[in-house]
Amino acid sequence: MKVTVVGAGAVGATCADNIARKELAQELVLLDIKEGLAEGKAQDMMQTAALLGFDTKITGSTNDYAKTAGSDVVIITSGLPRKPGMTREELIGTNAGIVKGVTENILKFSPDAIIIIISNPMDTMTYLTLTTSGLPKNRIIGMGGTLDSARFKYQLSQQLNCSAADLNAIVVGGHGDTTMIPLISIATWNSVPVTKFLSTDQQKQIVADTMVGGATLTKLIGTSAWYAPGAAGAALVEAIVRDEKKLFTCCVSLDGEYGQKDICLGVPVVIGKNGWEKIVEFKLSDEEQASFNKSADAVRSMNDVLKTL
Ligand code: LAC
Repeated sequence: MKVTVVGAGAVGATCADNIARKELAQELVLLDIKEGLAEGKAQDMMQTAALLGFDTKITGSTNDYAKTAGSDVVIITSGLPRKPGMTREELIGTNAGIVKGVTENILKFSPDAIIIIISNPMDTMTYLTLTTSGLPKNRIIGMGGTLDSARFKYQLSQQLNCSAADLNAIVVGGHGDTTMIPLISIATWNSVPVTKFLSTDQQKQIVADTMVGGATLTKLIGTSAWYAPGAAGAALVEAIVRDEKKLFTCCVSLDGEYGQKDICLGVPVVIGKNGWEKIVEFKLSDEEQASFNKSADAVRSMNDVLKTL
């Protein structure tokens, strides 16, 4: 198995680190445009192999896509991160060109790769990759909902004082501060609805805190987060390379599911060796469906911006 991570910034490097620690690939390539950055971080990670006991071979590359040839999975993290006070959407002008160029270069050397998009605005970058690459839709996966669902579980675990691993909870819709929809109505703590333990105010607070999860960290750190985004990317790689058929919320191309088409948006999908293999559809409440439609409208207007660039 060969995996490439494009972008050796904090998110890309953390994702690569997780992939190596779990030995999800024999070969792992970290690529960046900044001279020496990917080589340096790859070497630093390789020097943890003796300590952590992994055999994944990590190499770095300064923009030489030939080194990525034959990758089975490619994670794209390239582009600018958010600064405090910025929305993910404000990054579109810079990141659209970067993500498009990266995808073209990747496909020259790895035409069969499954592509995971982390770059923001993630929903629109996923749509851009889908519409410009000509790849089958199942091979293009936006990571957002996987991260947002993990953040939702974190918020729930804090309130319930329980293990986050004991929670089942998903966030659907867009990966924006106002477009994501944490589905608290169906969240459970080992099969028991969390709503049985939380007041309406507590539930509202958890949902609100989840939605601004990324923004809160950006304000604290001064740039956007990387541990959870990197781990979320690696979790998807794991499900693909191990053909796990696990259910994650990811941003994928919709063709009528959840009432939407010609858009990439977060919904529950089965992830396995073919990328996203199936959309799992169930009936949302009227209120949740209305939020989903509103989220789709917002993401669609962001997608429309692509035509003006
Ligand atoms: C975040 C970025 C990765 O939510 O979108 O932290």
